Amino acid sequence: MIDNYNGKVLVITGGANGIGRALALGCAKRGADVLIADIHGDEAEAVAGEIREMGRRAVAVQADVSLSEECQKIFDRTMEEFGRCDILINDAGVSNGADILDIKEQDIKWVTEVNVYAHWFMMQRFIPQMRSQGTHCQILNVCSIAGLITLGSAPVYFSTKHAAVALSECVYKSLKASGADIDVSVFCPGFVQTEMHLTDRHRPQRFAVPEGDPYYTSEKYQKFIEFNKQILDNGAPLEPTVEKVFASLAKKQFYILTHENYDELLKQQGIYQANRTEPVDPSLLKK
Ligand SMILES: NC(=O)c1ccc[n+]([C@@H]2O[C@H](COP(=O)([O-])OP(=O)(O)OC[C@H]3O[C@@H](n4cnc5c(N)ncnc54)[C@H](O)[C@@H]3O)[C@@H](O)[C@H]2O)c1
Repeated sequence: MIDNYNGKVLVITGGANGIGRALALGCAKRGADVLIADIHGDEAEAVAGEIREMGRRAVAVQADVSLSEECQKIFDRTMEEFGRCDILINDAGVSNGADILDIKEQDIKWVTEVNVYAHWFMMQRFIPQMRSQGTHCQILNVCSIAGLITLGSAPVYFSTKHAAVALSECVYKSLKASGADIDVSVFCPGFVQTEMHLTDRHRPQRFAVPEGDPYYTSEKYQKFIEFNKQILDNGAPLEPTVEKVFASLAKKQFYILTHENYDELLKQQGIYQANRTEPVDPSLLKK
């Protein structure tokens, strides 16, 4: 795992806000140079400015990571600016709380393409580069506790995060088997204090809310946003949570879990699966 960030090059998606921004600043504080890719170019540039003030190099790239060609753009810019990448963090993610019978097809596609496809597109480009460098590299995929357990809600979020965790596990195993000097970790937090309830503002144009569509202004849809805000506000504080990520990376952990109240649910999930019984009861979740 990366324990010395000095002079290392970090490429991070979703680095303009929330967890991604805190991870980008945390790496820069430890001496890394940073390329921040985000769908909001101006917000990514603001974070790049903060990093330059810390005395590190930083570049912002406006990109929609759900598109393969945009991930190629991020890769090309990284090579142009830095000629290498030592740490890749796939952080960009979006959510939707609609139930299976309510959710719009475009939202299934949007959340899946950002939360899962982007991890594929980025790793497919950066792993060969990391291999060719012959230096020790790190990939950190920001997933969620929703990638390890299920509750009875937000099926698109839970299913995409499960897919992203599975992808990380496969890549971790295949890189280890091939002897590549690239570590992979997955960060699976519970709720963290960010503005993720405003996720709809990160929609690419092709998934924009159709003008006048009553579904998106319905009480049910708005209630989800309000509910999400409440649980995010009551989540773990951002900075200490991100510091725990750096501590876990230093301990060479693949699974980075920062919210202990899910531990019992995680354990029971494994037991229920091994016993081939019903999925674990979410009421085991400690408040
Ligand atoms: N906040 C939490 O409670 C929580 C819990 C578990 C997991 N996570 C995960 O952590 C990650 C970051 O979440 P956050 O809370 O910081 O959210 P956030 O909404 O504050 O930040 C997400 C960032 O991703 C960017 N982004 C979204 N779609 C993009 C796209 N198509 N292309 C490029 N950039 C895009 C946004 O512009 C934003 O800067 C996500 O993957 C999320 O699923 C968050």
